[in-house]
Amino acid sequence: MTILVTGGAGFIGANFVLDWVAQADELVINLDKLTYAGNVQSLASIDGNPKHLFVHGDIADSALVEKLLAEHQPRAVINFAAESHVDRSIHGPEDFIQTNIVGTFRLLEAVRAYWKALPGDAQQAFRFLHVSTDEVYGSLAPDAPAFTETHQYEPNSPYSASKAASDHLVRSYHHTYGLPVLTTNCSNNYGPYHFPEKLIPLMIVNALGGKGLPVYGDGQQIRDWLYVKDHCSAIRRVLEAGTVGEVYNVGGWNEKPNLEIVNRICALLDELRPRADGKSYSEQITFVTDRPGHDRRYAIDARKLERELGWKPAETFETGIRKTVEWYLSNWQWVENVQSGSYREWVEKNYGERSE
Ligand code: NAD
Ligand code: TYD
Repeated sequence: MTILVTGGAGFIGANFVLDWVAQADELVINLDKLTYAGNVQSLASIDGNPKHLFVHGDIADSALVEKLLAEHQPRAVINFAAESHVDRSIHGPEDFIQTNIVGTFRLLEAVRAYWKALPGDAQQAFRFLHVSTDEVYGSLAPDAPAFTETHQYEPNSPYSASKAASDHLVRSYHHTYGLPVLTTNCSNNYGPYHFPEKLIPLMIVNALGGKGLPVYGDGQQIRDWLYVKDHCSAIRRVLEAGTVGEVYNVGGWNEKPNLEIVNRICALLDELRPRADGKSYSEQITFVTDRPGHDRRYAIDARKLERELGWKPAETFETGIRKTVEWYLSNWQWVENVQSGSYREWVEKNYGERSE
């Protein structure tokens, strides 16, 4: 048996592939374009493992995807591949349209043709699992209930709009062609191998590097945080037992304002790697110009996944954030390796425009 994962050199995809290889006796084909966010070093621990085959390529390359499907006959495709950073989508939405919309469309087309030609049993067992985000639902008022699966789509950034479009395409391939799809919409993830452009890894890396900790606006925007390994276990559970055509929201019941997250990271670093001058890392916090169109609050209602499939997160925010900070402290070489020229250019472009 074989599964095909796309975007498996990115943050969540790499965690998923590492867990899969550790737990399942099944080959995983890992198709990744290796954009700035893709990093084969995240997969170094399974280098040479016969259960993992890495393929460098684009989900929008129909010929390549058709060839991989024909050669390896996967029983499932799990689509992580995406442009995923809101700030980048504000500076340059084109790549988001190309990968998240056109790429997902081409992938769906190749998968549809492959699935249609499968023999009866294999056709019935086949699944296409699309990994999406809570950001498609838009921003919540402070007292509004958390997003359920039936919440209206109101994407506010080019990133979330492109993910919303991909979700709609996936839905339509089920309703129109009968493709056996599953969709997961997850809250903000954090954990090992997270590229240091997103809030949590950026704060850890900047703090240790003696740099400013740039908090956008008043720092009171709320995100709902889930440890990445819990997201991976939810995807495995939905793949195994989810009802075809259904959407499952995934979240950790961990709503927190950004400033609280940054202060928590500072407190953990104060404990685990105190600054030489004895001061707190929180002295490095700087308030910078807000992100345009910044969503104020996300919160996920994950009760359907718990009720129907018995999934629950294993980590609390307290246990997960400690593990995360400890991972960055013990894997500094990984951080140094991802800080390539293109990464530095991006940081300059993004933060050069923000005044303190
Ligand atoms: P990421 O940016 O870390 O990784 C994306 C991966 O996709 C990279 O390895 C990149 O090289 C690859 N990729 C990009 N374009 C490609 C293409 N055209 N063809 C093949 N590979 C391509 O993203 P992530 O944080 O790991 O997110 C993975 C998925 O989960 C995305 O679909 C994202 O929308 C979704 N998601 C992310 C979060 C989060 O908090 N990070 C939360 C919910 C959902
Ligand atoms: P981010 O990690 O980019 O995820 P998303 O925008 O997809 O939720 O940002 C998380 C929150 O942290 C978001 O409200 C923006 C804020 N933020 C900062 O305050 N400073 C930063 O440097 C970054 C990257 C994000």
